[in-house]
Amino acid sequence: MKVLHLDSSIQGDNSVSRTVSAAVVDQLGGPGDTLEIIYRDLGAQPLPHLTLAGFGTAQAAETLDQFLAADIVVIGAPMYNFGMPTQLKSWFDHILVSGKTFSYGANGPEGLAGQKRVIVALARGGFYADGPAAAMEHAETHLRAMLGFIGITDPEFIIADGNAMGPEQRDKAMKDALAHVTRLQPVVLAA
Ligand SMILES: Cc1cc2nc3c(=O)[nH]c(=O)nc-3n(C[C@H](O)[C@H](O)[C@H](O)COP(=O)(O)O)c2cc1C
Repeated sequence: MKVLHLDSSIQGDNSVSRTVSAAVVDQLGGPGDTLEIIYRDLGAQPLPHLTLAGFGTAQAAETLDQFLAADIVVIGAPMYNFGMPTQLKSWFDHILVSGKTFSYGANGPEGLAGQKRVIVALARGGFYADGPAAAMEHAETHLRAMLGFIGITDPEFIIADGNAMGPEQRDKAMKDALAHVTRLQPVVLAA
């Protein structure tokens, strides 16, 4: 079972999404597990922005192959400036590829990556569930749109909100998110 673990926070050890995504990966493996984990730190080693020439590079092919080979993808996703970090968007730009992860036919777009399990650890500074802030939420909505487009219609979201609203709220958000992680279904390996 292959797990692709991505982080994209620029906040190093102070990152909420990094802490939560690491806990997700720990939770997935049971005793004696044989999970093969590939880790990619997009915050520290970003992919380049997409260019026409960039489509043909070995790095682009490797990024897509890594995604296609994964059974489970765990994504650490902070909200920066109301959306996902540019580093994470660039990764998505490399894996939304016509003929590989989606196709267009007579019935419109069809996602080709629907068999994967995707778990997103999303960390936001504020609250976006309702009120005027809801219209400014472009991280979770964008992630769900892109994942849905490639066929992953039921991603699991672990959300830590209000991290910029004081240490007490940040601690609570982290505690609640980590408690949520313990309720995730671990991988059941074939005997
Ligand atoms: C550069 C930057 C931009 C941010 N922009 C927003 C924002 O637009 N909305 C928000 O709610 N929080 C914002 N925040 C707060 C982060 O979402 C919050 O700190 C969250 O915990 C980030 O995840 P991380 O701890 O994994 O980096 C921003 C933080 C940084 C560093």
